[in-house]
Amino acid sequence: MKTAFVLNGPNLNLLGSREPTVYGHQTLADVQALCERACAANGLKLEFRQSNHEGELVDWIHEAGRQQAAGKAAGVILNAGAYTHTSIALHDAVKGAGVTLIELHISNVHAREAFRHHSYLSPVAQAVMAGFGVNGYALAVAGLAQMDAPA
Ligand code: DQA
Repeated sequence: MKTAFVLNGPNLNLLGSREPTVYGHQTLADVQALCERACAANGLKLEFRQSNHEGELVDWIHEAGRQQAAGKAAGVILNAGAYTHTSIALHDAVKGAGVTLIELHISNVHAREAFRHHSYLSPVAQAVMAGFGVNGYALAVAGLAQMDAPA
């Protein structure tokens, strides 16, 4: 069974209490449980992590790339938070690791402030998920499983 890496960036540890009108009331632990269910339903094993530190996210993307190259991982679902809009390092990490990436946002970033409209990740992502609330994580897990399925 292959692993789906679900990686969360800065401030996502605050889910549930952080701007609930934008991000909803579910906590990161709730999101992890939702991802567990989605992975079980799609034949994937879950590796779920959160960090407020850019370099740690870079290291985890490299790790996922190595596992994918070894046939052990399906890819990465990444909610990079604000690093989406700032991080060339994460862009380069995805490219360098050769990992399958689904970029994810809980909110519809394109309906928000202009500084959220640009993403350094979209050009290196296979797909982008935004605006479905936390249920987007389950949809992204199903999408990653389908991308990995033999044609
Ligand atoms: C976010 C959107 C980003 O613009 C923001 O900085 C986040 C969360 C989302 O899930 O909607 O931290 O990625």
